[in-house]
Amino acid sequence: MNYTAEYEAKRTSAEALAAQVQSGWLIGMDAGAAQTPTIMSAIAERARKDEIAGVKVQTLLDVYPLEYLADNSLFGKLTSEAWFSGGGSRRAVNGGYGDIIPNYYRDIPKYIRGMYDYDVFCVSVSPMDRHGYFSLSTVSSYSPAMMEKARRIFLEVNDHQPRAVCGAQVHISQVDGLIEVSHELPVLPPTKIDAISETIGGLIAERIADGSCIQLGIGAIPDAVGAALKQKHDLGIHTEMFTDSMVELIQCGAVNNSKKQIHRGQTVTTFAFGSKRIYDYIDDNPGIALLPVDYVNDPNVICRNDNMISINAALEVDLWGQVCAESVGTKHMSGSGGQVDYVRGACQSKGGKSFIAFTSTAKGDTISKIKSTLTPGAVVTTSKNDVDYIVTEYGVAHLRGEPLSRRAKQLIAIAHPNFRDELSFEAKKRGILI
Ligand code: COA
Repeated sequence: MNYTAEYEAKRTSAEALAAQVQSGWLIGMDAGAAQTPTIMSAIAERARKDEIAGVKVQTLLDVYPLEYLADNSLFGKLTSEAWFSGGGSRRAVNGGYGDIIPNYYRDIPKYIRGMYDYDVFCVSVSPMDRHGYFSLSTVSSYSPAMMEKARRIFLEVNDHQPRAVCGAQVHISQVDGLIEVSHELPVLPPTKIDAISETIGGLIAERIADGSCIQLGIGAIPDAVGAALKQKHDLGIHTEMFTDSMVELIQCGAVNNSKKQIHRGQTVTTFAFGSKRIYDYIDDNPGIALLPVDYVNDPNVICRNDNMISINAALEVDLWGQVCAESVGTKHMSGSGGQVDYVRGACQSKGGKSFIAFTSTAKGDTISKIKSTLTPGAVVTTSKNDVDYIVTEYGVAHLRGEPLSRRAKQLIAIAHPNFRDELSFEAKKRGILI
């Protein structure tokens, strides 16, 4: 086969691909750097000129400035339905012109296969290899499911995309049209690790034995834990999101994946997002497998590694231990992602533990993140029945299997001192401090 000739025959412009889009289409894209800003910009232009209407776009974790997400005049013409909001889709949801699909991340491929019909799947890939394959680079996630379901596949071929040798691939024969672009991938601004995050990182690191397998979630605290794990040995990684702190742990020798029960010797993730250092690490590296999310985030897979440790963040927690990681009251902030999948997977693993960690206060010590009851409108991400350890800079509370009164006492003890009396008063009033 002459793949180069097929490639050339399918190579076109963003405007020509956008011209195929019709009113009522459902467009799919995957997470972060897998998205196709150039094609989407051309589609948005057609919506702006009223050439199309009723087009929906499903995405997860938008990190490009996809300008259509910030343009509420396009509502109804080109509308976002986010599987997990970030950046533009978060603003669109809070502005009332974008929608959100609640889910556990691991279930998205099932919904894609069973519920939705995609007119096109748009994805950013690395340049074609000599066998006619393009690597989906930093993302596996639900892309394999979308490629199975979509009527068409449009590519943005970006020579800055790394080639993930153990990741999802698409063949030129599956592709309906492609454009070439050349730009840096989006990067996550580095998180600031302050003294409080360092304390939290240290408290968790003390409870992680050498040889454990780790998952680190999204946010400043999981990054601080990563930094605190550099002195450990023989750690493994099985995680939803591959982050900068994990590259650091691999390159300093703390992670070698040698004690894992599954995928021994290999880091496993479903997508990567962070700095250029991550993208360089992935390029041509058989030491990292980017696998579909319905496998990577399945608690029954996660728990197959012994001593599985999950570390995730939250916005507030009540005295039952109900964890909100997605909203501040009714204000939408995030999605469930894989938090619950990893809490469950870690707790099912032999020797496993799950930590939900956060600074005790927000907004300059004016708000306690440990609350008697959740703020009205707050979304429960991890339930009282799943929660395991809660950590603040004041200590560690173990809640799983504990009665409500002991949960409340432990949580009050790790709340900021300015709020402990008020929390005790509320708990006594409710009759739960027995
Ligand atoms: N009340 C009011 N405001 C609060 C608050 C509270 N209880 N808690 C946090 N905030 C504010 C912060 O002050 C901050 O405001 P700013 O942006 O104006 O500074 C903002 O909300 C974000 O809080 P922060 O603690 O900095 O968030 P983060 O970047 O560390 O992310 C989560 C925390 C929970 C949003 C993030 O971990 C997440 O999206 N989790 C859900 C998904 C998940 O856990 N996936 C796991 C697998 S990757």
